[in-house]
Amino acid sequence: MSESGHDQPQNQIDLADAYAVKTPDDNRRLYAQWAQTYNETFINANKYVYPRAVAQLFAKYVSEIAITAVVDIGCGTGAVGSYLANLRPDITIDGYDISPEMLKQASLLARIDGSPVYRNLLEVDLTASLPKQTFDAMTTAGTFTHGHLGPETLVALIDLVRVDGWFVIGINAEHFEARGFASTIKNIVETGVITQPEIHLVNVYEVGSPHYGDCAKVNVFQRKK
Ligand SMILES: C[S@@+](CC[C@H](N)C(=O)[O-])C[C@H]1O[C@@H](n2cnc3c(N)ncnc32)[C@H](O)[C@@H]1O
Repeated sequence: MSESGHDQPQNQIDLADAYAVKTPDDNRRLYAQWAQTYNETFINANKYVYPRAVAQLFAKYVSEIAITAVVDIGCGTGAVGSYLANLRPDITIDGYDISPEMLKQASLLARIDGSPVYRNLLEVDLTASLPKQTFDAMTTAGTFTHGHLGPETLVALIDLVRVDGWFVIGINAEHFEARGFASTIKNIVETGVITQPEIHLVNVYEVGSPHYGDCAKVNVFQRKK
């Protein structure tokens, strides 16, 4: 984790606050306060480019023909969906998130043709019981990280994607080994549930960001059974 020792006005939420959360309720509280300013004080201020990298990998690796409906897990204010809707205007995107305030911001986003970026936005705690829906693909940035979602949630989420469907899943690089994502993914590959992931190391923040150097591992794989 990088230090966020740059000057912050009192009360301004930053990356250290985001990494300090521990429970779903902590997440609800943090993002309720942060939703309205998240794009400005987090995405823009920190040159946060991770959602763009995830959307670009999705567009590169996931076959255009095979995909209609995609779910963006922990969609927040909708950064991943925005990039994806530009790169793949024909897909429908649903967003799941625990924070109604973040979902409200995502609901304001429009595609180039004026239609909403997200078809449905659902308030859901991904660590609890999941909606009975199935998608052709799943994507995410920024949710498998410190204090947010762990590997056990990734395993549970596999059922939301149909057999042969795709996953483009960003996981905080420090978190990847330390929190057991690497071993959990290895186990589900060995049981034949998913293909061996292709792992792409991407920058979470651009050059010039106070957090430049933080990386994520974007795992691209398919469901086999
Ligand atoms: C760092 S933000 C990332 C948002 C967006 N994907 C982005 O890249 O800008 C993490 C998101 O995960 C959501 N989240 C955290 N815990 C969650 C949970 N248990 N269930 C669903 N969403 C959760 C938060 O509400 C927040 O919107």
